[in-house]
Amino acid sequence: MGNPVDWPALEAAAVDAMRKAYAPYSKFPVGAAALTGNGRIVSGCNVENASYGLTLCAECALVGNLQMTGGGSLRAFYCVDGNGNVLMPCGRCRQLLYEFRAPDMELMTTQGIKTMDQVLPDAFGPEHLEETR
Ligand code: THU
Repeated sequence: MGNPVDWPALEAAAVDAMRKAYAPYSKFPVGAAALTGNGRIVSGCNVENASYGLTLCAECALVGNLQMTGGGSLRAFYCVDGNGNVLMPCGRCRQLLYEFRAPDMELMTTQGIKTMDQVLPDAFGPEHLEETR
């Protein structure tokens, strides 16, 4: 495993992000925060749309923020709901996170800390694109 993760700092960043959510339709604000492989904290909130299906999850904003602030990988991840409780990332967002995972990525879950492989087993990833080319 890499460096120890400051989970309370990630939780605080996720709660800060959640407070910025734009969720007038679901009234379900979400905040996500992650520690990058080089020690940055990146975060994001959900951004909904009058065309409901266009909603952007908090993790979408997070990976955009990762890329816009220098790129790199995700070492640890924390997502919260409007009460500040741990929220499991939806299936689509697990895939978004998988793309940028550090080899030792960990996620805070409702059942404690888990690895990326535990929350998205047998994942499709960039390596599969190469196999059939
Ligand atoms: N949501 C997220 O932001 N991330 C997730 O992983 C689960 C769902 C948002 C989308 C929508 O704005 C609200 O939660 C209710 O589904």
